[in-house]
Amino acid sequence: MKEAKKILITGGAGFIGSHVVRLFVKKYPHYHIYNLDKLTYAGNLANLRDTEKEKNYTFIKGDIVDAGFTDELFSSYRFDAVIHLAAESHVDRSIVSPMEFIRTNITGTVNLLNAAKNLWNESKYEDVLFYHISTDEVYGSLGTSGLFTEESPYSPRSPYAASKASSDHLVRAYHHTYGIPAVISNCSNNYGPCQFPEKLIPLTINNIKNNKPLPVYGKGENIRDWLYVEDHASAIDLVFHKGKPGETYNIGGENEWKNIDLVKLLCSIMDKKMSRPEGSSASLITFVKDRPGHDIRYAIDASKIHKELSWSPAGGFRENIEKTIDWYLSNEQWLKDVTSGDYQKYYEQQYTHR
Ligand code: NAD
Ligand code: DAU
Repeated sequence: MKEAKKILITGGAGFIGSHVVRLFVKKYPHYHIYNLDKLTYAGNLANLRDTEKEKNYTFIKGDIVDAGFTDELFSSYRFDAVIHLAAESHVDRSIVSPMEFIRTNITGTVNLLNAAKNLWNESKYEDVLFYHISTDEVYGSLGTSGLFTEESPYSPRSPYAASKASSDHLVRAYHHTYGIPAVISNCSNNYGPCQFPEKLIPLTINNIKNNKPLPVYGKGENIRDWLYVEDHASAIDLVFHKGKPGETYNIGGENEWKNIDLVKLLCSIMDKKMSRPEGSSASLITFVKDRPGHDIRYAIDASKIHKELSWSPAGGFRENIEKTIDWYLSNEQWLKDVTSGDYQKYYEQQYTHR
């Protein structure tokens, strides 16, 4: 691929996207990074305050569901590569309102694929790449043993997972049918700074801080594999630069936790950090009605990316979870803004693309 690249990162104002944008802007000054984001409730430009003034960074507000917009965008900016993270990402919301997931995750992905195909077709797909970021939830649910490999059959079980599975299939279909160089990675649960406090870890931290009940679905027996967001960003960097078009890479932390054990760990660390008597946060744990169709266990076999691209998570879980808690404790205003929705109005006034 040519040296000076124009890279479109979609969903760069969200949780994982903002870490990926920051990494690419700082590490690759000879690339220009275009961050395309609709700024839904989950998109927050405050996540990139330390990056937004860099010369090789441009923010574009827009909706990937609007095909006219995505076509025009690709013909004006002539991107060399796409790293596609924009999505509706929360399983509980997909159970309540699946249509938004169908629109953004499926139609939005096809709009980007079409715009890329039309532009890159001219140069016979030389030196270009469409990198689609996906989830381990496409593989369904595991029992007490086993791991998802890149060969595991797809068996999505929530509207969110089905919409992501559909987008993965479409990316592969465009690769096989039209020859678009495309790569996909499927990752386990991320945690770290800037995650919207509807997801288990930031929700628990925020509720402990505010002395609110800690909702644990069902008996808290479900298991997730947790990966620090900066480790996911470093894997994305490697897959983007060294991954083989047509291939899929699973990314995971080899770090499985039962939800109840994870919530109890957060409680004990928070008791210490907030100088509260031991056990006071755990007394907030409240078992609530289970998520419908709640997948029992996810776990990733990440040996392919370990072996082929020499990727491994950098730090330990305890150290990274402490860093995450510290970030939420020292970014009170960020938490207040995202939970009140005020930042949305503020940024709406500042950025309009069309
Ligand atoms: P997020 O919800 O924090 O951010 C999503 C971003 O996409 C937001 O900035 C939002 O404004 C933007 N967006 C949503 N709809 C859009 C639209 N129609 N047009 C343009 N922008 C739009 O999500 P996240 O947790 O950072 O996840 C990012 C990606 O990684 C998603 O594709 C998700 O499926 C995938 N993923 C997430 C995890 C995880 O644990 N969070 C794990 C594996 C894979
Ligand atoms: O596995 C990757 C996926 O991880 C990503 O693709 C999704 O975008 C991301 O949201 C995440 O999905 P989960 O549903 O696993 O994450 P969530 O934080 O919503 O829930 C984690 C576990 O905790 C899950 O078993 C449900 C449970 N839970 C969640 C919430 C919000 C609770 O027990 N109580 C809660 O309040």
